[in-house]
Amino acid sequence: MDDWNEAEGGYKKFVEMLITRRAVLPDRLGGNATPIAETVSSGAVNIKIGKEEGNGEPFAWTVNGVGYSPHIAIMGQVGSGKTRTMLEAILQMHRQTQAPVLLLDLGKGELADNAELARELGAEVLRVPQNPIGLDMFHGSCASEDIASDTVLGFRDSLTKVMQSRPGGKQLDHIREALKPLFSRNVRISMEGVRDCLKNYYEENEINIDSVISAINDLTERTIFRPEIAPADFFSRSWIITFGQARDTVKNLAAYLLLDALNVFLKNLQEASRDSEGHRAIRLILAVDEAKNLLASRHQGLSDNIRLHRSKGLVVLLASQSPDDYKGAGDDYLENIGLPICFKTNAVATAVIQNMFKGKVNFAALDTGVCLTLKDGRALRVKTF
Ligand SMILES: Nc1ncnc2c1ncn2[C@@H]1O[C@H](COP(=O)(O)OP(=O)(O)OP(=O)(O)O)[C@@H](O)[C@H]1O
Ligand SMILES: [Mg+2]
Repeated sequence: MDDWNEAEGGYKKFVEMLITRRAVLPDRLGGNATPIAETVSSGAVNIKIGKEEGNGEPFAWTVNGVGYSPHIAIMGQVGSGKTRTMLEAILQMHRQTQAPVLLLDLGKGELADNAELARELGAEVLRVPQNPIGLDMFHGSCASEDIASDTVLGFRDSLTKVMQSRPGGKQLDHIREALKPLFSRNVRISMEGVRDCLKNYYEENEINIDSVISAINDLTERTIFRPEIAPADFFSRSWIITFGQARDTVKNLAAYLLLDALNVFLKNLQEASRDSEGHRAIRLILAVDEAKNLLASRHQGLSDNIRLHRSKGLVVLLASQSPDDYKGAGDDYLENIGLPICFKTNAVATAVIQNMFKGKVNFAALDTGVCLTLKDGRALRVKTF
């Protein structure tokens, strides 16, 4: 009665008050209402990388300890040992936790040929575009109008990032208007569905074909996604995804949409449990080899995954050639990295790296197989081979 009086007889206001004040409902519902099974923490996950220079002891690092990030960044010039080191770290984590691994090879795609690796990880190998990615990447977009809008805008960002020229305001509007109904009413949306929907919208509104249409035409020439597996299922399995034969636009878009889907999926998950000493359960290991372009693109999905989801049990490993790859406007991913591993490179260390190593560091003089890393906050040389 108090509420009714306060609403002064306005029925709409009254209902709003019931919903917001009395029912304490969440603002929005998650698109992935079914979380993957709560992972039990497997205690401290320790990885060993090479031998410490000086005492020759194995260099060990606890991935999931308290008070620092579990993410690893590996840097170094061509052939310095980045990929080998990354794979070694992934395998050690996987052996201890059984956590699924999503390994993206954005370089030449040679990781697809590593049968031993796929076997150990229990991973399915995909060579895009010969093998499409079976992820339902817009899963749950139709759960509400808000989620549909968010999904459309997220997709639009990813699409415009791979377009050669940035679309203008009108074009951005067309994309949103065209796709909103598709995303709010359908499940298992394919890229081909997106293309057809855009084309129909252009036709119905007598809009001339422009760079948006030609971009989506290019991107759907081969099927890169087949929306069959829901994210909860997809991200519970291990995958090695390579893009050796794919054009850059296809490769980038696929990476963006994967990272967006992962971001949405993790947002809706509960925090990963910790053991009595605070070691967080590792739910998923995301590893990106040859991450240079991805880092440079400042993609929101990557940034969100790195910054926000370690409490959900995500561990990210990034390998790229130069510390410069992390430099740029906005985010500095390195600030969210727990372990830097720097092999020889002539690139000058960025301010953030200097900060991590608490002083001037020079990677140019490192011997083959030797990397500079951190132990208890101090720079340490480690011989990996
Ligand atoms: N742990 C190791 N033990 C022995 N040799 C190694 C090891 N790591 C790297 N190497 C040697 O260095 C070469 C390059 O290693 P890797 O492919 O890991 O480097 P990379 O930095 O990823 O190179 P690229 O820039 O070409 O991707 C290997 O082919 C191998 O000869
Ligand atoms: Mg490599």
